[in-house]
Amino acid sequence: MLTKAPKGTRDILPSEIYKWQALEATFMKVCGTFGYQEIRVPVFEHTDLYKRGVGDSTDIVQKEMYTFDDKAGRSLTLRPEGTAGVVRAFIENGMASLPQPVKLAYNITCYRYENVQKGRYREFHQFGVEAFGAKGPAIDVEIISLLDVFFKQLGLEKTMLKINSIGCPVCRKTYNDALKAYLLPHLDKMCALCKERYDRNPMRVIDCKLQVCKEIVKDAPALLDYICDDCQTHFNGLRAGLENLGIPYQVDKNIVRGLDYYTKTVFEFFSHNVGTQGTICGGGRYDGLVEKCGGAETPGIGFALGVERLLMELESVGVELPRKDRTDLYLVSIGAPAEDLCAKLAYNLRALGFAVQKDVMARSVKAQMKAADKLGASFTMVIGDTEVASGRAKIRNMRDGSDAEIALDVIADYLKADL
Ligand code: HAM
Repeated sequence: MLTKAPKGTRDILPSEIYKWQALEATFMKVCGTFGYQEIRVPVFEHTDLYKRGVGDSTDIVQKEMYTFDDKAGRSLTLRPEGTAGVVRAFIENGMASLPQPVKLAYNITCYRYENVQKGRYREFHQFGVEAFGAKGPAIDVEIISLLDVFFKQLGLEKTMLKINSIGCPVCRKTYNDALKAYLLPHLDKMCALCKERYDRNPMRVIDCKLQVCKEIVKDAPALLDYICDDCQTHFNGLRAGLENLGIPYQVDKNIVRGLDYYTKTVFEFFSHNVGTQGTICGGGRYDGLVEKCGGAETPGIGFALGVERLLMELESVGVELPRKDRTDLYLVSIGAPAEDLCAKLAYNLRALGFAVQKDVMARSVKAQMKAADKLGASFTMVIGDTEVASGRAKIRNMRDGSDAEIALDVIADYLKADL
């Protein structure tokens, strides 16, 4: 028990961390080119924020939150997603007075008590962005193009973008009536939660994960067929903008998203390689959320991408991520005086930014050479009593096997010239 991580959590080991670091660096670099700045928000928030923000008839709030009381009796929840916390930070820090749109990016862990399976965990990672203050479809197009650029920079060509519009409170009302009329004859067969949702928020029945409800909603009316003129104009603008940039997409009337805050544009990027959890990324517009959480009326839009799912996708299509770890020089020492000198040389070279390794376990020369080889050191240098006395040593270029004799006080210049 003590030596087993909790179900649905995973360690990210040193052997795979380079992939995460490469993705994080590329994502934040792309965000930077689009003008998004990183924000870091707490890992827990007041439970009410999620109830109100994500919506208390959603699966996330009803079934999946890690909620606890702190020692002072406050109800807190580990963040199941990033948008609500970022919206809270936007309001609390007066970001409405900054030049609009305010463009924020994040890299976070999230927590949901879900049925664990391939691509679905209880602790998982999201990259996301949120943009506040822009009303028209231009920002929707820009946000989708950010993902498109990110995927292209990673060498991922075959994701499928699906878009939909789920309208605004005006068209939602007409739609809810139509949906309820459709669901009524099936009411007895629906799960207990969906029976309750039927009255409170019938749209939530559409993304119920239970098979019995999935069967029922298969032929349900689609919101896209009920949207008002304003929402239709917005959706047309989104489509025209994507076509202008040559970003391929499909309109998928079935995308409703599992969170309550969405209005108008919703979108997801799919892959066929992530098992049943094919959605790598999801997002959309949430024009009423800032106001609902206590701020001034402010339009917003964003997305979040599941990093574990992105990694699975990259692996299955054979995209290699670059490794950054390197050993510039391995110092092999023979005897105590050489060991002291190597410690000093390594210390000075590391301070200059070189990646230098040396033995710290009094190992034989043979074992030290083996270690240098295993690390893939670019150069090695063997230092014994003679080298200590003369202040000179042979440096071996491990890539081509050539040797050069140099003074020990010019190693930095030599490495700089050769690396
Ligand atoms: P979401 O669709 O709930 O949206 O999650 C976004 C992405 O997180 C999913 O597409 C998926 O890749 C990943 N994900 C979700 N749950 C899990 C899980 N249990 N295990 C592994 N990966 C998972 C949101 O969270 C919204 N906040 C997105 C957004 C931002 N909308 C507007 N702004």
